[in-house]
Parts: sequence; C-alpha cells; structure tokens
Amino acid sequence: MKILQDTALTYDDVLLVPQYSGVDSRRLLSTQTRLTNQITLQIPIVAANMDVVTESEMAIAMAREGGIGIIHRFLSIAEQARHIQRVKKAESFIVEKPITMTLAHTVGDLKRLVDETGTGGILILDDEEKLVGIVTTRDLLFENNVNKPLGEIMQKKVISAAPDISLKDAEKMLHDNRIEKLPLVDKDGRVAGLVTLKDIMKITQYPKATKDQRGRLIVGAAVGVRDKEMRRVESALQAGADCIVVDIAHGDSHLEIDMIKNIRKHYPQAQIIGGNVATGDGTKRLIDAGVDAVKVGVGPGSICITRIVAGSGVPQLTAVIDCAKAAKSANIPIIADGGIRQPGDVAKAIAAGAQTVMIGSMLAGTDESPGMIMTRRGHRYKASRGMASREANIDRNKKEGNDLTQEEIEEYVAEGVEAAVPYRGKAREVLTQLVGGLQSGMSYSGAQTVDEFQKKAIFVRMTGAGLKESGPHDVEVLT
Ligand code: XMP
Repeated sequence: MKILQDTALTYDDVLLVPQYSGVDSRRLLSTQTRLTNQITLQIPIVAANMDVVTESEMAIAMAREGGIGIIHRFLSIAEQARHIQRVKKAESFIVEKPITMTLAHTVGDLKRLVDETGTGGILILDDEEKLVGIVTTRDLLFENNVNKPLGEIMQKKVISAAPDISLKDAEKMLHDNRIEKLPLVDKDGRVAGLVTLKDIMKITQYPKATKDQRGRLIVGAAVGVRDKEMRRVESALQAGADCIVVDIAHGDSHLEIDMIKNIRKHYPQAQIIGGNVATGDGTKRLIDAGVDAVKVGVGPGSICITRIVAGSGVPQLTAVIDCAKAAKSANIPIIADGGIRQPGDVAKAIAAGAQTVMIGSMLAGTDESPGMIMTRRGHRYKASRGMASREANIDRNKKEGNDLTQEEIEEYVAEGVEAAVPYRGKAREVLTQLVGGLQSGMSYSGAQTVDEFQKKAIFVRMTGAGLKESGPHDVEVLT
C-alpha cells in the first residue's frame, strides 16, 4: 500500500489567475484545437459516446458548430453504420448518385421526372453509360414536343471535373464557368458524382463546420474491446467514421491495449482514441499501444458512481494535468472526459492541458439528443443515464435478445445512475455558452490561442469559502 502525498484537485478547487490582456474582442479569439494530430476542430467540444447523447442528429449539430460527436456503441453494427452515413450525407457537396437519363429518353420522360423529383439539370448517358450531355430546366422551358429524344435538346459541351475535386476547386469551377451543376467523371468517362451550386450555398451557412477532405461533416464511432468488435470497427470505417473511440471504463487494461493494437495492425491509417485513464502511466501505455488521442476521466461524470462503488478514480483536474504532462513528449492530444458542469470548467480543462473536452449530460438535455422531453412539476427535462447503470445494462441485453432474469439484474454491479437533466434547447445554445466561457477564460489569461492559453495559465487553489464567493450569493437569483 502506498499513499500519494499530493492533494488531487478538481475544477471547483481552483480558479485561473487573471493576467494582463492585450485581447481586443474575446469573441474573436480562435478556439481551434486538435482532436488528434490529423483532425482539427474549430471548437474543442466532443459529444460523448453515450446512448442518451450522440446519434446522428447530435453528431451533425456538433460538426456543424466546429466540434465532433462520437456515435455510441450500444446499438447494432448496422444501425451504428446508418447513423455514421447520415452524418456523412448531411452536408456533402457531392451528390454521390445523381439521377441520369439516356439518349433514348424523351422530353416527356424528363418532364415527368422533373415533376416527380424536383431535380433540374439531368445528366445524359450513352449506351456505355458515359456522360454525353446535360439538360437543364432552361433547355426544357420552351420545348413542347414531348416525343423529342433528349439527344436533340441536350447541351453537348459539358464542363466536368475529376471525382476527387476539393470543395474550393469545385466552387471556383462553378463560379468561373457560370454554371450551376458540375458533373464528376472518372477516367473512363463514367459519372462518379455531381456538385450543385445549391448544395454549396447550403454549406456556407455553417462557416466553422468540421469537414473531411470530401467536404463531408466529420463523425466518430465508439467500439468495445471484445474480439467481435473488430466487425464494428470495419463497418464504422467503411461507413466513413473519421475516428474510432475504443470505449471502456478502465482503459488502463490489457483488454483496451490489445484492441488498440489489433485496430492499428488492420487499419494503420485509422485515427484511434483510447480511454479512459486517469494517470500519466496509463496515458503512456495507451500511447505506446498506438493511439492518436487519450480520453481522460475515471469517475468525474455527472451520472458516474464508480468512485462510490469501486472507491477508484482521480479528481479530474489533477488527472488531466498528469495525463497531459505524460502525453506532451509524444505530442498526443488529451480529451478531458466528464464532470464539465459550467463554461468555466471548459476553460480550466483546456488550461490544464486538454486539447478537447467531452460532454455528456449537458448535451443530453438538448433537442438533438435521442429521447423525449418530459415535464415534471412545470419544468422540462430529458433523460440521462450512465452507460454502466442498471437500466442501460437491461436495455443493452434486451437489444441483443437476452431478457435478463431478476437474479441477473440484481447481480449486476452498477457504476452509473439514471437521471433527469434540465431541458436546454438547441445544442448550439449550450455550445455558444461553453465556447464563450472558454474565450473569456483565455482573455482573462491574456491568451490569443489555445496553445498560448496552456502556456500562460496560472491556477490558484481556493477554499470552500472561495468557492462560495465565486457563485451568486446573498441575493435571490431571478434568471
Ligand atoms: P458528464 O459529466 O459530461 O460525463 O455527463 C460524461 C462521461 O461520463 C462517463 N460515463 C460513465 N462513467 N459510469 C461511469 O463511471 C457510467 O455509467 C458512465 N456513463 C458515462 C463517460 O466517460 C462520459 O463521456
């Protein structure tokens, strides 16, 4: 037995010491950061891989705002893949399978198709399925002979591009050529996609959105550690997942490490996030196994009872500081997972060395999380629950076709609770507060960037009286 002499701290134990600031407007400060060394985020927020938090709707909202969501693993492999695909399709600037017609189709056929689908600008293929022309709504405007073959009215000179065109280049081609549709054609002359001006304009609504190289929103997928979970990894990557989170409560374990090595061996290019750990040594072991980021947090979560049940854990600020220190020489980013209750906690986690924070219950209360809004005594709530809670375990088994007996239910040692969280409106509103808090924290430390913030930040420890003084006091709070 050994007792560590240093006191471990969490967010409420400290404050950031204000320092001279040359910042003009805190709202303009960049919060750009790294989820992994290959995935850049515009805001350092990750929606937790919990079944009450992240499916496709949340992941879409997160990526549009500049963060990312991790689709949880408590659903079938096929369902998880469908959620990933939904995110990937939400804002793609490329229509993967555009509607096409052949030279033999007539003006009447095309008019019917336009009425049914509302699609204008149809690509025309020859017998070998090669692109030979395009018919736009303008070409159809004064064409009354419904029997005329499309070959006679189509525009034969079609401006096209290669299938791997970037968003920027596609935008430029549409603009330079004053066209609204840009077919993508492979080297054999076959259609491999279509870029439309309308889709590109939709995208510019979310200037901070985090995208992959093909302009699609980014998304992560959680997997377990058992051998059979390799099928989930394969399916998630095929569906387009940008990173894989190997999700286990005690990540400093041979199960986690074997799984990470296995994924790395089969998918050398995959971005792998490992966790959860709470010590520098645990962080190093995951880095040695081959991860691209480490998720830190044992027991700080709002719905966690690991520290009560197992008596195990490390207060989160100390855990983040220790793990970030251990990861520094390998330049691997840290995700501070759990225990974020207010915007100032995001600032403290990032200042302590995390590149991103993972949020569960604060996002569980938003419109984009799965589940219904409940009303209790005039207040609106949504459900949250620990993934290791009794109820989550029962549901999980039910989904896999096992109806647990009463004895099996009672034998399960839960490390999470079921809870209600206040309804918080749109995820965007929560993110605005969290990011605004971080920017203010940066400004009080006189930092312009996340890197500078981490270098400059000074923490001061406070007593219970200091904490009491830090919130509203001696007043009746009205709003
Ligand atoms: P917050 O505080 O944001 O925390 O709601 C979310 C994180 O909590 C973790 N989590 C659990 N931890 N038992 C635990 O000890 C559980 O049942 C449980 N479920 C979720 C997880 O790391 C999540 O991201």
